[in-house]
Amino acid sequence: MTDQRIAVVVLAAGQGTRMKSATPKVLHRLAGLPLIAHVLRTASSLEPAHVAVVVRHERDRVAAEVVERAPDALVVDQDEVPGTGRAVEVAVRALPADFDGAVVVLSGDVPLLDVVSLRALVDAHVGGGNGATFVSAIAPDPTGLGRIVRDEAGAFVGVVEHKDATPEQLTITEANAGIYAFDVTHLRAVLPSLTTANAQGEKYITDAPALIGERGGRIDVVTLTDPWLVAGINDRAQLSDAARELNARIVRRHQVAGVTVQDPATTWIDLDVTIEPDAEVLPGTQLVGATAIAAGAVVGPDTTLRDTEVGAGATVNRVDATLAVIGAGASVGPFAYLRPGTILGDQGKIGTFVETKNARIGRGSKVPHLSYIGDAEVGEDSNIGANTITANYDGVAKHRTEVGSNVRTGSHNVFVAPVRIGDGAYTGAGTTVRKDVPAGSLAISYAPQRNTDGWVEEHRPGTPAAEAARRARGEQI
Ligand code: UD1
Ligand code: CA
Repeated sequence: MTDQRIAVVVLAAGQGTRMKSATPKVLHRLAGLPLIAHVLRTASSLEPAHVAVVVRHERDRVAAEVVERAPDALVVDQDEVPGTGRAVEVAVRALPADFDGAVVVLSGDVPLLDVVSLRALVDAHVGGGNGATFVSAIAPDPTGLGRIVRDEAGAFVGVVEHKDATPEQLTITEANAGIYAFDVTHLRAVLPSLTTANAQGEKYITDAPALIGERGGRIDVVTLTDPWLVAGINDRAQLSDAARELNARIVRRHQVAGVTVQDPATTWIDLDVTIEPDAEVLPGTQLVGATAIAAGAVVGPDTTLRDTEVGAGATVNRVDATLAVIGAGASVGPFAYLRPGTILGDQGKIGTFVETKNARIGRGSKVPHLSYIGDAEVGEDSNIGANTITANYDGVAKHRTEVGSNVRTGSHNVFVAPVRIGDGAYTGAGTTVRKDVPAGSLAISYAPQRNTDGWVEEHRPGTPAAEAARRARGEQI
């Protein structure tokens, strides 16, 4: 149910100069999602009637991300007048003229705000009949942040930006989080009065509450005790600090839900990863995107899985995998590279120094050693010999290799695609399979071996090999 009384404005027009990046700040990622996506998700928990996102810097890139994440959001362009106050002004103008509820303002660069705190802001605002409600937090290091100025009785006086603050005001540790709720009528009344008469020459939204106070609006501040919830991302150091903190919280959530994570400091888990109880995640592991780990699986150490599914009880050891599906009880690695479209059946094996791509390897089938299996289909309970290559590419097009069930192929084979090896067939060591192998056949392609007696002593005299050969001959006599 949408709440007709709430509109959310997300500020995302700023340049993000301090990131020193070709990528707009709000598109930098945290736990697998762009900053702006974190904010849009949290906003959606309010089920607001309207969401307006203000864009300007790299507007097309930011707008594309917004439309993908929140198709119903209004994308509003900020003009050349700079500042958070102007951003709110253009957003409020884009709302329906008859909207008369609360405008919740979120910053696109404050990604860790949680649903509970946002709801607390709205409840305090609506419950108090406020003109404006702020979120503040006691910041361990408030450098760069706006400070909440209070009078001797502790009542809110206003916000002063770091760059405009007196030395005395700089000692204030209660910082403005950049998250607000406003009564839209009060807001509409004061926005045209914001000026750019400050150190940065910008219209500050932080000047609005004092003006609303002058009109008789009630001003309230909701103070959060956890400063991480309102941490703004302005540079890459803050980005990695926030990433580490969010990761620690994600890891803790999985641990509480019954997942063993041996070393949270070296384990990185994206927000949308799912892990069932009694799975184990070993050090040096990154679980990325929509990766899903089933119960009892052991993943790691030193493993990166992107958008990959791991079945119950599987082991995945020192593996790099993207868009792969690993069956229940299967074993992968150590040192395997699973590229998109790899589907390993239950109880299957992809072993050491094996690369796979677009390959379906059936239940109980094994590719244990030193192989490349691409554009291939292997049936059930087959064994692919060590050092086997599917030659899938003829220089122009890719072709498929099909291997049936209960097949045994020898070591050091090349399957020159398109080719098919039937059920129950065998191939000899060193076979280059260029023709289909019928079910139950043995395929061998070889040149007969020829031994030339005494060749080494004759052609490589004086070498250690020749000496060894001479000794061996002596012993034979
Ligand atoms: C802002 C607050 C500061 C607060 C801090 C919390 C103001 C004037 N200051 O400072 O009190 O402590 O957030 O993180 O509001 N933006 C626009 N259009 C603009 C400028 C900015 O949409 O013209 C957007 C940015 O993209 C960003 C957000 O507004 O998402 C905040 O802007 P930023 O420049 O980072 O403000 P701060 O200096 O961090
Ligand atoms: Ca900021």
